Amino acid sequence: MNKRIILRIIFIFLVSVFLLQSYTFAQRTGYTKEEFMRRRAVLMEQVQDGIIVFFGNAIPQSGAHFRQDNDFYYFCGREDVNAILMMLPRMKQSILFLPQTSEREDRFHGINLLKDPGGRKKTGLSSIQPLDLFDEYLARWTGRAGKTLHIRLSPRDTVDNARYEYKLFQARKNRIFYNDQISLDNYRVKKLKERYPYCEFKDIIPIVDSMRVIKTPEEIVVLRRNGKISAEAVKQAMLKGKPGVYEYEIEAAAMAVILRHGARRFAYPPIVGSGPNSCILHYAENSRMVEDGDIILMDFGGELDYMCMDISRTWPTNGKFTEEQREVYTIALEVQKASIEAYRPGVTSADVRKYVAEKMKKMGINTRGQRGGIGHGVGMATHDVGPMSPLREGMVFAIEPGLYYPEKNLGVRIEDTVLITKDGCEVLTKDVPKEIADVEKLLASRK
Ligand code: GLY
Ligand code: MN
Ligand code: MN
Repeated sequence: MNKRIILRIIFIFLVSVFLLQSYTFAQRTGYTKEEFMRRRAVLMEQVQDGIIVFFGNAIPQSGAHFRQDNDFYYFCGREDVNAILMMLPRMKQSILFLPQTSEREDRFHGINLLKDPGGRKKTGLSSIQPLDLFDEYLARWTGRAGKTLHIRLSPRDTVDNARYEYKLFQARKNRIFYNDQISLDNYRVKKLKERYPYCEFKDIIPIVDSMRVIKTPEEIVVLRRNGKISAEAVKQAMLKGKPGVYEYEIEAAAMAVILRHGARRFAYPPIVGSGPNSCILHYAENSRMVEDGDIILMDFGGELDYMCMDISRTWPTNGKFTEEQREVYTIALEVQKASIEAYRPGVTSADVRKYVAEKMKKMGINTRGQRGGIGHGVGMATHDVGPMSPLREGMVFAIEPGLYYPEKNLGVRIEDTVLITKDGCEVLTKDVPKEIADVEKLLASRK
């Protein structure tokens, strides 16, 4: 073989490896134990004295992979069911309490760290203790560690419900007085207050949220990868979404991509609304057959390593926007692009709105009441914790302008998730086309 052929083979090999890597986003992500040790140290530094307690989730969810409580996971990264994490800021100690398990449980679920001699080293925790010693530790340390119990008094959040939504849904549940039993979170608080009435109780969540809102370098690696995976998922769904298919087939095309890349679940129930369903903001039934001439509004994101992504794209099922669809789409797109331009550290929601309004005026675009703004935070929850304004480096937002005309069966939303950088923002989900020409080009490539 001559030298040129060998060089060509090497070149093709290297290009193939590169393409394969970037297509499969093959590198696994996750967090080091040092990440959780740092988070605990930062929290303890701010709390100074007393005892911090976080409860893990109590039972596995049915029909889904187990997902840990966000606040508990944030400080130890453990997925044990029925665990409690205690921190003693004065002593700079962190203790994980785990259930003692039977041989039968171990056969089904494997052993937990109580039976693992390397447990402390693996986690960087000061000690790992059986759950039934939790109260003994609490009673012992309420003297030397201080008498304040720092626990979650605010509502929890979940992957697809913000703290304010969780609170709202609890209130809606309680509309039926047969349903109005106290929540598990409130029961835990009540129980602690009964057992330790001499302690002062303080809500730990304002400090937790001030940490969670700024994403760490390890979280940013996960977010970037999730941005690529979720973008590829929406792109595959757009290729699938043409007349004659059911909305759930479009959902399936996206789900296949995120699951194939290690995401455990969607960040929120996927929204695939065709025709009239494009105007229902959180439509998730996804059961209608898509018709020629329909618009499809898809809102989708995966959850990878406890980090969410949030993308919306809107496209004509038959591959070509009508004049009316094009006009409405252009307004949403220009508002979205102007918001992205405005995003940088120091900017407030009012600043973004002002910038967008001025830009639209200059462009001669009537936004028909669609206002810009800073959207919502994204992180461990799709609607993540705040405070979010003014913007700071390391925050993550979804920008999601939309226009809805139910009388025309026409809803348009364009949404990207962005990371605030030192001097602007990085669009994590930029790989899904959104310019009209690019969308139509992608759709034209469908067989
Ligand atoms: N996917 C829910 C939202 O966009 O807020
Ligand atoms: Mn969304
Ligand atoms: Mn959103």
